[in-house]
Amino acid sequence: MGTFHNYIDGAWVPSRSGRTFENRNPANRDDLLGLFQDSGREDVEAAVRAAERAYCSWRLVPAPKRAEILFAAAQIIAARKEEFARDMTREMGKVLEETRGDVQEAVDMTYFMAGEGRRQYGQTVPSELRDKFAMSIRQPLGVCSIITPWNFPMAIPSWKIAPALVCGNTVVFKPATLTPLSAVNFVKVLEEAGIPPGVVNLVTGGPDVGEMMTTHDAVKVVSFTGSSAVGRVVNQHAASTFKRTHLEMGGKNVVMIMDDAQLELAVEGCLWGGFGTTGQRCTAASRIVAHEKIYDEFLRQFAARASALRVGDGLDDRTQMGPSVNESQLQTVMKYVEIGRGEGARLVTGGNRLMSGPYARGWFHEPTIFGDVDPSMRIAQEEIFGPVVSVMRCRSLEQAIEIGNSVAYGLSASIYTRDVNSAFTAMRDMYTGIFYVNAPTIGAEVHLPFGGTKATGNGHREAGTAALDVFSEWKSIYVDFSGKLQRAQIDT
Ligand code: UN1
Repeated sequence: MGTFHNYIDGAWVPSRSGRTFENRNPANRDDLLGLFQDSGREDVEAAVRAAERAYCSWRLVPAPKRAEILFAAAQIIAARKEEFARDMTREMGKVLEETRGDVQEAVDMTYFMAGEGRRQYGQTVPSELRDKFAMSIRQPLGVCSIITPWNFPMAIPSWKIAPALVCGNTVVFKPATLTPLSAVNFVKVLEEAGIPPGVVNLVTGGPDVGEMMTTHDAVKVVSFTGSSAVGRVVNQHAASTFKRTHLEMGGKNVVMIMDDAQLELAVEGCLWGGFGTTGQRCTAASRIVAHEKIYDEFLRQFAARASALRVGDGLDDRTQMGPSVNESQLQTVMKYVEIGRGEGARLVTGGNRLMSGPYARGWFHEPTIFGDVDPSMRIAQEEIFGPVVSVMRCRSLEQAIEIGNSVAYGLSASIYTRDVNSAFTAMRDMYTGIFYVNAPTIGAEVHLPFGGTKATGNGHREAGTAALDVFSEWKSIYVDFSGKLQRAQIDT
């Protein structure tokens, strides 16, 4: 157990106030991982100013050189995958197999963005005038505030920081207070890989830090992943100084199972999508719409498999589902179980907090399934972010799509079918940013855009080359080598 510091202008420093907060293991709250800086406005000010200064030289480093540092960082993360995964399981609870995946996603993204160091393609187009050259290039924006959640503590920071850096921006990074250790691990790797002082700054702490990072005059981009409620505030804060704001928020993702689906495959997918990461993914399969012809059989198999999942400490290789991340998240789960019961949904399995024996010191809950859910119920509409899945019945593909689209969010959706016509119809008509066929709603790869419609996002996408659009802006350049005044649209 130690005390971890902020990283500002290339140095590991305590917060100005000297205040700290604790980081505890959600599977065992007696396990204290360390003390982290409870930073304030002065710390953010120092970090933003350092990032602003560093921007003057970092933007001029050739992109392929910036990329070499990212490439080195990816190699270091890959070499330390197991250690980082263990730290992550200890600090936020998901099982080791999944934290290894989280670290791998950071490796993948960092390599991918390193590749963009030699691309970042613009356009070269013919000019309408003689002896004139026309092209567009991407240019960086400046200081980026990166605010990340606890459910993907290394992957999501990499989705934002790697593209920000390869485009030539500098960064102030605030991780969720529940997962500062993974953030420290990530920033230490960047330091070791050779990121110059001030280019990446880490400031741990709570809402005060976030507020200043979203209002500070010198910040040009805010990239935030978290709840829609906080995202709305971030957006409002950033609006008055016209920052570019990228928001990645909630989800209420649906799996649609048609009567011709491979049922065992659908059951496997729903288990993984619904209870992976203890349901704490914005892409979680929290809603299932099953065709009436296979509804009963699906629900029977799904409930049997869910109730057999081994819940426990994610560090134990036999565990299949870890705890909720903290007490308040667990209480949210319990509240929604009550809401579901009150609304008249049928509790098919689960529904209880686990408290005895090995569960006594953690925030554990049974995998929970509600059946016969009406699409208008709150458990079918609101994001729970826990191991609670709502199963609904449909008569047709059209009805499944209608139910699927009848929520405020639009991140991810999926269909299980063997009919190519159904698959393509759903692919076209589900209004989401991500769509899967014969796979659950989770499992996005880093080289395609990630994000959603409606209350999930604000029109941007991260990951893939789409991320470059968040972290760069276009400059169109015209070079006239005719030696005379040529007037566009006039001299024809
Ligand atoms: C999230 O759901 O919060 O697509 C992120 C996935 C992961 C990332 C999920 N690659 O499931």
